[in-house]
Amino acid sequence: MNLVDKTEKTFALTTPLYYVNDVPHIGSAYTTMAADVVARFQRLLGHRVLLITGTDEHGQKIQRAAATLGKAPQEFCDQIVPSFVSLWELLGIEYDRFSRTTANRHEAIVKEFFQRVWESGDIYQGQQQGWYCVSCEEFKDERELLPGKHCPIHTTKEVEWRDEQNYFFRLSKYQAKLEEFYQSRPDFIQPASRRNEVLSFVSQGLQDFSISRVNLDWGFPVPVNPKHTLYVWFDALLGYVTALLEPDAEPTLANALETWWPINLHLIGKDILRFHAVYWPAMLMSADLPLPERVFGHGFLTKDGQKMGKTLGNTLDPIALIQRYGSDAVRYYFLKEIEFGKDGDFNEVRFINVLNADLANDLGNLLNRTLNMVKKYCAGNVPLIANEAIPAENPLKRIGLPLGEQVKQAYEALAFNQACEAILLLVQASNKFIDEQAPWTLYKQEKQQEVEAVLYAVLESVRLAAYLFSPIIPNISSDIYQQLGFGINFNNQTESSIAAPFATHATWGLLSHKQQLGTPQPVFKRIETLKND
Ligand code: MSP
Repeated sequence: MNLVDKTEKTFALTTPLYYVNDVPHIGSAYTTMAADVVARFQRLLGHRVLLITGTDEHGQKIQRAAATLGKAPQEFCDQIVPSFVSLWELLGIEYDRFSRTTANRHEAIVKEFFQRVWESGDIYQGQQQGWYCVSCEEFKDERELLPGKHCPIHTTKEVEWRDEQNYFFRLSKYQAKLEEFYQSRPDFIQPASRRNEVLSFVSQGLQDFSISRVNLDWGFPVPVNPKHTLYVWFDALLGYVTALLEPDAEPTLANALETWWPINLHLIGKDILRFHAVYWPAMLMSADLPLPERVFGHGFLTKDGQKMGKTLGNTLDPIALIQRYGSDAVRYYFLKEIEFGKDGDFNEVRFINVLNADLANDLGNLLNRTLNMVKKYCAGNVPLIANEAIPAENPLKRIGLPLGEQVKQAYEALAFNQACEAILLLVQASNKFIDEQAPWTLYKQEKQQEVEAVLYAVLESVRLAAYLFSPIIPNISSDIYQQLGFGINFNNQTESSIAAPFATHATWGLLSHKQQLGTPQPVFKRIETLKND
């Protein structure tokens, strides 16, 4: 049954389905935070959103991780999966579907899809020889290996030689079709640097890739020959499709694709770009299905220049970070400080400085001092000023009026850092405006109207900033909105997108005299010192 009104704009987006070889780390959280911000923003725009996340549970990597602990793979996965679910909850991730590749309904989807590709004549048996990185679950070209036959991504791991009979997918057949597709859809792969990487990879000539494994039983059997196990990536990418099924729908491709397909955005890290931008569209072409709209490959979070990861063991514990600083702080830092698409190093001193400067000082203090002045000079009421009475050259109005549109464009381009910088400009201009206008002096001079005009402009700017920041720091934004007298909680997305739609709330000048202001309370406490670990 189709529950979505087709006239309503829908937006489906995915995080990768995470390997469950270990509990999640900050790198896995990074993509998910970004996806949640996009989902929240799309909901504010009034779109019907489906945010898909989940876990990728088959393959050798997981089987080995389970074996090391002496556990059966399914039991092992069942124990790891809750750590993803609870981290998403701690981070305030509002996902709609959690897709597990070991789900029964997933197998039905994989089988049906395999059948379509089989009928296209794109699967054949052949001999696979090559170097395999179990951590990547990918064959590597000999020339990309590091000395000692180490994987370039999992630099401490040696690749393994494989020489076996596998089923292959005829990727080479799609070379020209893929190239045409990239030309006709220049926005399909983003950012531009990643697109270029893919174009150059494809132009070197595509080779068929194996989609089955022998001597591995942790996965789905190949439908046409159960002695072989389906390659984990063939099954994992289809996890996105299974996730589209309504909970009680029969697991058929037709049901899965009915409402939300094609997916609007796949958010991934740069290491899995080829799978999403080359293999996946070719598989879909073979199955004669429409292709996703956009794949965005972000950079790596690094520590001392190396990709943080479970395999290298140089990760940051996201739970400890959230417990220490709160989820908004963590979300804010990673989205504002690292250009999405580029690598970024984590440094705790920098982390604290950014939070103190932006959230405690610039934003939090601004609200606090303004509300206190409103209490003192305006009997605690929003000044009664018509928006039109504020001249166009008022610096805050000048920055505030076009800001909603600018920030919208930044969110749509996934330029989260630019969205934050643009909002911060208004916040900083507001602080400067108060200092220059000195309402305390105007008050002493009994220039009440001027006092009110200044305070109105600042309060309204804080409101607008809080609104535009809400996809990133929903708790702080909700607190600010509460103190400004709006009974809106941005964590209740269904309600807030109706009560505070982008069309009205993203515009400077909304605040009205009728708002009953709340009690001023710090929205973000300054972090004093870096405690020793
Ligand atoms: N299971 C596959 C994805 C299948 S999608 C159908 C996988 N899983 S993973 O757990 O290894 O990685 C998931 C995502 O986390 C990838 O997009 C990867 O780029 C991202 N990250 C893992 N470590 C990371 C960093 N240190 N920094 C940023 N992102 C990182 O690949």
